[in-house]
Amino acid sequence: MNSLPSQLLRTDFGHEVYDRWYLEHARHNFEAPDFVQKHFPFYEEVLQLTKNDRILDAGCGIGSYTREFARRGYHVVGMDKSPHFLSEAHKITHREGLEIEYVLGDYNEMAFEQPFSVIFFEGSFFYESRGGSFILLKQSHNNLTLDGRLYFVHSNPHIRKQQFPMVNLSEIQKNVYVLEMAEYDEKGGGERCVWVRIDLETQIHYKCDYFNMHLRPHELKDSIVTAGFKDCDFYKKTRN
Ligand SMILES: C[S@@+](CC[C@H](N)C(=O)[O-])C[C@H]1O[C@@H](n2cnc3c(N)ncnc32)[C@H](O)[C@@H]1O
Repeated sequence: MNSLPSQLLRTDFGHEVYDRWYLEHARHNFEAPDFVQKHFPFYEEVLQLTKNDRILDAGCGIGSYTREFARRGYHVVGMDKSPHFLSEAHKITHREGLEIEYVLGDYNEMAFEQPFSVIFFEGSFFYESRGGSFILLKQSHNNLTLDGRLYFVHSNPHIRKQQFPMVNLSEIQKNVYVLEMAEYDEKGGGERCVWVRIDLETQIHYKCDYFNMHLRPHELKDSIVTAGFKDCDFYKKTRN
């Protein structure tokens, strides 16, 4: 056993330790350009996009989708709560010769002076409770024009829970390990995830745990309508 006293510190999306690991080891969670491009005809069709639209890419990460909107000539703003992801987004955007505004902030608290005609969440629509889903939908509604459209991807709990439990341990550098665990909490109706970074040399460890709730389709529909949206359409989306 190491004689150093150990510390267990908290980290999360937006904190340096978690974000650095994400950028170096979990970058696959940010979609690759060919995957993004493949799905654009679908977005353009279901959202009936026009060049007059003002789009918010909420939870944009390193801007994989934001840049594709911009490449196609749409006016887009990217928003994320991680300064590290946004810094990476700025770098890639600059390298590609594009100009995009990125805003640092929590989408649960968004309050834009000028509303958007489209708010787009791809792999970033997260909430911890029924109340949280309502706040997020209501916030989105408040930041949309009267004819605005909201797009988000939502897991179907019946399918999602088949992917759990999940355990993964990796040595990310000598004597530094990351343990990821996730299980489906039937009672809570969502996935409970734990991420721990164990540093055997410094004995300074980090932990991040979070819960992502998944309402069932009819509950989600109720929440959407209660938040003030007039219509909603469901589409089946798969990774292929
Ligand atoms: C799995 S990544 C997806 C990123 C991007 N949409 C993509 O598909 O490439 C989820 C992103 O949501 C962001 N995020 C999570 N909660 C957020 C919040 N409350 N406000 C703003 N961004 C958030 C994270 O920082 C992260 O960049």
